[in-house]
Amino acid sequence: MQRFANRTALVTGAGSGIGAIVARALAAQGARVAVVDVTAAGQATADAICEAGGEALYLQCDVQDSGAVENTVAATVARLGSLDIAVNNAAIDPETAPEAEWDESVMERVFAINVQGIFLCLKHEIAHMVEQGSGAIVNMASAAGLVGVMNKPAYTASKHAVLGLTKASALQYAARGVRINAVCPGAVDTPMLADNLPPGVDKTLIGANHPINRLATPEEVAEAILWLCSDAASYVVGHALTVDGGLTIQ
Ligand SMILES: NC(=O)c1ccc[n+]([C@@H]2O[C@H](COP(=O)([O-])OP(=O)(O)OC[C@H]3O[C@@H](n4cnc5c(N)ncnc54)[C@H](O)[C@@H]3O)[C@@H](O)[C@H]2O)c1
Repeated sequence: MQRFANRTALVTGAGSGIGAIVARALAAQGARVAVVDVTAAGQATADAICEAGGEALYLQCDVQDSGAVENTVAATVARLGSLDIAVNNAAIDPETAPEAEWDESVMERVFAINVQGIFLCLKHEIAHMVEQGSGAIVNMASAAGLVGVMNKPAYTASKHAVLGLTKASALQYAARGVRINAVCPGAVDTPMLADNLPPGVDKTLIGANHPINRLATPEEVAEAILWLCSDAASYVVGHALTVDGGLTIQ
């Protein structure tokens, strides 16, 4: 099914985990994809898309840098023809040691990427989409945007803020043809999860905390994101879609 034929998508944090799978899934369904990441891992995602017969371009960008984000949106439009879909997915989750996490430098770093980064992406993506009169944006929040998570104050606060940004921007731009939504995954089997396991905790234990009794795959999260980006979700605005195996209904 070529749901996204003749459309251009931009995916941040597409060098790893969920972002890489979303970029590949969008390309498999016809989109031209700007693979955006701060690290060169984005090149591998773009190469994999091209090897599979799709069209992709790696653009190195740190989402904390407004000028870099503006240039990335401009390069996407110039080199891939338009900007119809954006998935603002890049984030960090550095809080692993409970004693160290109430450190203001951690809060600043997490907010600079997870909140200001999404704000900057929205700012520059929306400017183009409003001019064009259409667009669909999905911001990556988390179940940690809906409930509190022990030992992760900065990450939890940042993901609550992503939902606030999503609602405010969705209200402001819905009538101008730009739909903005968010997804809230539970624990997903990615490098971020593996890097943040507390000492002695196996990832199957994290999965067992979810009513469904397992972790999500990145593909399951990508499926929800692609739906929100598609015309099938044409009347869905400002929604926070949980993909959490029942975690937040407990
Ligand atoms: N893995 C989970 O359990 C889980 C659960 C809920 C939500 N999420 C969210 O999903 C998103 C993706 O997470 P993941 O698990 O795939 O993580 P990941 O660490 O595997 O991938 C994140 C990517 O973002 C990139 N990135 C980091 N900082 C950046 C910056 N400043 N500019 C541009 N790119 C940057 C990294 O280089 C990396 O490629 C994040 O927003 C995360 O908070 C993850």
